[in-house]
Amino acid sequence: MLVQLKVNGKASQVDVAPNTLLVTALRENLRLTGTHVGCDTAQCGACTVLVNGRAIKSCNTLAAQHPGAEITTIEGLAAADGTMHPMQAAFKECHGLQCGFCTPGMVMSAVDLCKRHPTANESQIREQLEGNLCRCTGYQNIVKAVQQAQAATAKA
Ligand code: FES
Ligand code: FES
Repeated sequence: MLVQLKVNGKASQVDVAPNTLLVTALRENLRLTGTHVGCDTAQCGACTVLVNGRAIKSCNTLAAQHPGAEITTIEGLAAADGTMHPMQAAFKECHGLQCGFCTPGMVMSAVDLCKRHPTANESQIREQLEGNLCRCTGYQNIVKAVQQAQAATAKA
């Protein structure tokens, strides 16, 4: 079936089976491989993207469920000139990543939180990131990065 997706501001048509996961359409049809697959069972959060501004696990939803929705992946966060989004810059500055596998999902979840709740405290940040697992266990610096980027992300 043909599904119209709007990803990172660009309208795209993908030819997928009715049961194709959103993450598969993003990675395999649109070649947006910044969205990772860690578990494929909605547990790790590596596949998190924004759909109409809210973070969702793209391995837990079908591509066909989102025609016309505004989908943002990690590739869509930086400015056109390559300037990093404040959340990406903060992860870099605060050493909020080690192997980087969880990072796209962490960043997308953090952006969602900061847009909705720019003054979230540390425990609210940790609660938001509960569904994002880091095998490198670098949670402390991830939380520091989110705190550093909160104000700028709310305005971005
Ligand atoms: Fe989607 Fe792990 S790959 S939650
Ligand atoms: Fe390696 Fe999170 S930085 S899994």
